[in-house]
Amino acid sequence: MIATKNISTHKTLSGLLAHQPAELVRHSQNVADLSSALAALLGCPSDEIDKIYIGSLLHDIGKQFLPASILEKREKFTDREFGLVQMHTWKGYTYLNNFIADPAILHTVLYHHERWNGTGYPYHLAQNQIPLSARICAIADVWDALISDRCYRRALNMTQALDLIWTGAGSLFDPKIAAGFVSLIAEGYKVGLVANKNEDELIVPNIWHDKDAELGSISLARSNKR
Ligand SMILES: [Fe+2]
Repeated sequence: MIATKNISTHKTLSGLLAHQPAELVRHSQNVADLSSALAALLGCPSDEIDKIYIGSLLHDIGKQFLPASILEKREKFTDREFGLVQMHTWKGYTYLNNFIADPAILHTVLYHHERWNGTGYPYHLAQNQIPLSARICAIADVWDALISDRCYRRALNMTQALDLIWTGAGSLFDPKIAAGFVSLIAEGYKVGLVANKNEDELIVPNIWHDKDAELGSISLARSNKR
């Protein structure tokens, strides 16, 4: 069970995501699916996997506090605008900190843009300074971004995206986790968990979740079926 700070605050996963843009919800669900599958592959205990799932599901919740002019901007960000975008990690952390006490969940949100070589944000943490949950979420987050259409580029195919993840192993990403991720995608592809719609096009796992589970009842928050 996740420690909650204010049990009178009735927060559910679906409630937290209810008013988010559809694309953000889709992305968050995919990142949570992949992060939890990767955590399982790495041998994390089930309670940690559940926390990584929830942290990943909520990793970009702080974007709701960014101005629409930035969220909807199609052109390249100015330095000032990029500074504001980076604040979504801190804003998400401080928001969730009002009713979630579990560090594994909060740290996934706060540190998911940190990078193995210290070039990430907000604190330029490096290697094992970055909590494991955030190192896992970082790879799943980048992967889903790469295979998704963006206003400034088309989605990459699976081969291109995996190549970029692998290129970043040891620089941007924890090399052991990146290796696990590559094997996860390869295995998922083989068993049909990751479907291949049109040769090069990837569909991420379609895994069911009970998003109405209360945050204080984590056992309901992660239930997968294939
Ligand atoms: Fe993010």
